Amino acid sequence: MSGIFSATAVACANIALVKYWGNRDDALRIPANGSISMNLGGLFTRTSVSFQPSLPFDELILNGRETTGKGLQRVTEMLDLVRAQTGLVHRAEVVSENNFPSSAGIASSAAAFAALALAASHAAGWTLSEEGLSRLARRGSGSACRSIPGGFVEWRAGTRDEDSFAVSIAPPEHWDLADCIAIVHAGRKKTGSTEGHALAPTSPLQAARVDDAPRRLDLCRRAVLGRDFDALARVIELDSDMMHAVMQTSTPPLLYWQAATVEIFRAVREWRASGLPVAYTVDAGPNVHVICPREVRAETERRLREIPGVGEVLVAEVGGAARLAD
Ligand code: PMV
Repeated sequence: MSGIFSATAVACANIALVKYWGNRDDALRIPANGSISMNLGGLFTRTSVSFQPSLPFDELILNGRETTGKGLQRVTEMLDLVRAQTGLVHRAEVVSENNFPSSAGIASSAAAFAALALAASHAAGWTLSEEGLSRLARRGSGSACRSIPGGFVEWRAGTRDEDSFAVSIAPPEHWDLADCIAIVHAGRKKTGSTEGHALAPTSPLQAARVDDAPRRLDLCRRAVLGRDFDALARVIELDSDMMHAVMQTSTPPLLYWQAATVEIFRAVREWRASGLPVAYTVDAGPNVHVICPREVRAETERRLREIPGVGEVLVAEVGGAARLAD
């Protein structure tokens, strides 16, 4: 196999501090509102893509297992974008591994599609800028566009394919934060985010959430740039609660929380009131991401483990940009 038709890339997962929920355009994954996230260093996907003339169709090996169905279809859709752009006709073998347990219920699609966009475009000889890569990753999974740049990242919503991509607003070393992820329930979620985004407009609260997004983005950007933990805590909890209010008032309603999720909300608020700098945020699942300065991560992890219903606690620091690997 000639080297130019294969490449390997690594990309981190990310946690949204101001969330993306609902699309202006579902097919192109143009979001209803902008979002801000932090890359999760140490929680990554490594993906190798090799386009081969002898393959009759695309193949996906995910965490050591051959995968078909929806998972393979989404990979093929991204490879088709790369093939259409480059004129390459070969099918590809895609081998992808997460270094975090898939049973941990951590959303892996952001890291997966960021790594796939970088590996597939490079393998096909298509050199893209960071902006171009972010746009390509967005087509696989919206939040994946935020796993291309490093550190603290803002996805500017835009209104069409060309202007909807993510940029770094501060490098990883700007602020020593950690994310202690309390695993409450490790099973697969019933409603994935692609279906969830499509339900967002059915909630009467979505319009208010989207209208207020520029204000929350501004508060969050300032809190990150000024390293103001209290301000960050207030805006990320508000934003997470607003997204879940939309989910819970959609038709049909989506309730991702478990009892332990709510216990952690209460505990985090109490700990913060008594001086421990911690704040919660939750994606489309029951697990709680507790953000804190790095120096209190061990104490935060210890306290989380004592809450009934919390299994594992994964800890990540701020991660860098997606990169090619040998
Ligand atoms: O990228 P998707 O389609 O998996 O959507 C991600 C949605 C949330 O994780 C709930 C929020 C976000 O901004 O990451």
